[in-house]
Amino acid sequence: METYESVTFHRILINDRERSRAYRKAIFESVHEGDIVLDIGTGSGLLALFACQAGAKRVYAVERTAIIRVAERLARENGYGDRITFIDEDVRRMDLPEQVDVIVSELISKAVIGQHMEELTAICRDRFLKPGGRLVPRSVELFVAPVELPEQHAELDFPPFDEYQLDFSPARQLARNHTHSLGARIKKLAGGQVAYRVDTAKVCAGDNPDARLGFTVATAGILHGYCVWFSATLSENVVLTTQPPGLPAWDNIVFHLQEPVPVEPSMRIELALRATQPTAANPIWHWNTTIKETHGNSDPAPVLAQFQQSTFHGTVLTRDEMVRRSSQYRPRLTKQGDVLAALFSRLDGSASIAELAVKLHAQFPDRWRTREDAEIELQALLVGFHGSGYLAI
Ligand SMILES: C[S@@+](CC[C@H](N)C(=O)[O-])C[C@H]1O[C@@H](n2cnc3c(N)ncnc32)[C@H](O)[C@@H]1O
Repeated sequence: METYESVTFHRILINDRERSRAYRKAIFESVHEGDIVLDIGTGSGLLALFACQAGAKRVYAVERTAIIRVAERLARENGYGDRITFIDEDVRRMDLPEQVDVIVSELISKAVIGQHMEELTAICRDRFLKPGGRLVPRSVELFVAPVELPEQHAELDFPPFDEYQLDFSPARQLARNHTHSLGARIKKLAGGQVAYRVDTAKVCAGDNPDARLGFTVATAGILHGYCVWFSATLSENVVLTTQPPGLPAWDNIVFHLQEPVPVEPSMRIELALRATQPTAANPIWHWNTTIKETHGNSDPAPVLAQFQQSTFHGTVLTRDEMVRRSSQYRPRLTKQGDVLAALFSRLDGSASIAELAVKLHAQFPDRWRTREDAEIELQALLVGFHGSGYLAI
């Protein structure tokens, strides 16, 4: 998550010419002279600057990480400082003094979900977009295709039993329940299909991929897994796609199959692809596969192989973590937690950090050597709580 504040991350985004040119063209198509624009997650400010170039009268550029300081400087240096209002806030909590004509954003992850585009777009659209207002992107589609990728499959494997007289299958099973970035040549065994679609005019917080797809094998080969990419319709005439081999800003994600399966054009691959996105964690993906023989008269068609996979099964937990995730777990504060509870009980806006440090130092004399030490630690704690959205300014 914190990579979003690094200049390196935003340099890669800006330098992805296909991405930047497509967004610039789409913004020039969507923003009209004199428009008010909202840029959700402005990052380096690139889309806000494009909106100014396209004629926006005012742009509200919202960003919750420190990269906003770089965006402010870029806006000033380029002569757009007076037209962009930077808002240093999570968009879930911000307010605007007026409604906007256009909302722009680039919150698209490699497999579409992961940056809460659905939730953030829905919040801003419902609160701030004028009736008939425009959105960039208009829609984003997630594509999936069954693929053969022997090099990556071999790279991700463990030694066979014969090599060391050791069985690595439990580790292999975990590794194949992860998603991986595609770094190798692939052969598609059937055409890609749409597994999920975000229509920004209608999307709601809580929308998630949940697709049942059937692929008729087009080319014989070994099914190693599924490759995903997206196609984003940014404006009426601009489409940005990351189909393999992807773009500098987005490589492709692969969902590996538990075991490779040889497939032929007489076979059908059924895939149930589902995901959920917890607020403060990576999405959890589930991909269940059934491979059937469709030639012949058997009804129902015989099942040749079946796998149920999930990134949840790829997660290793310590015994303590397993206990903590149980619904029977009864949380209890440590001594350090008692300090936090005392601090929280005093956060009603009446005491300064210096006053809090005096009170807490007196209450927990063993915790800090001096009042100054208490103040330094409280300051760091409060910055963290503010970043997580628990504290008002
Ligand atoms: C993929 S970057 C895109 C940056 C820029 N719009 C561009 O296209 O170059 C997404 C940005 O949105 C910001 N962001 C994500 N969620 C946010 C939220 N809830 N509130 C404010 N900013 C957010 C991130 O910190 C990040 O800088």
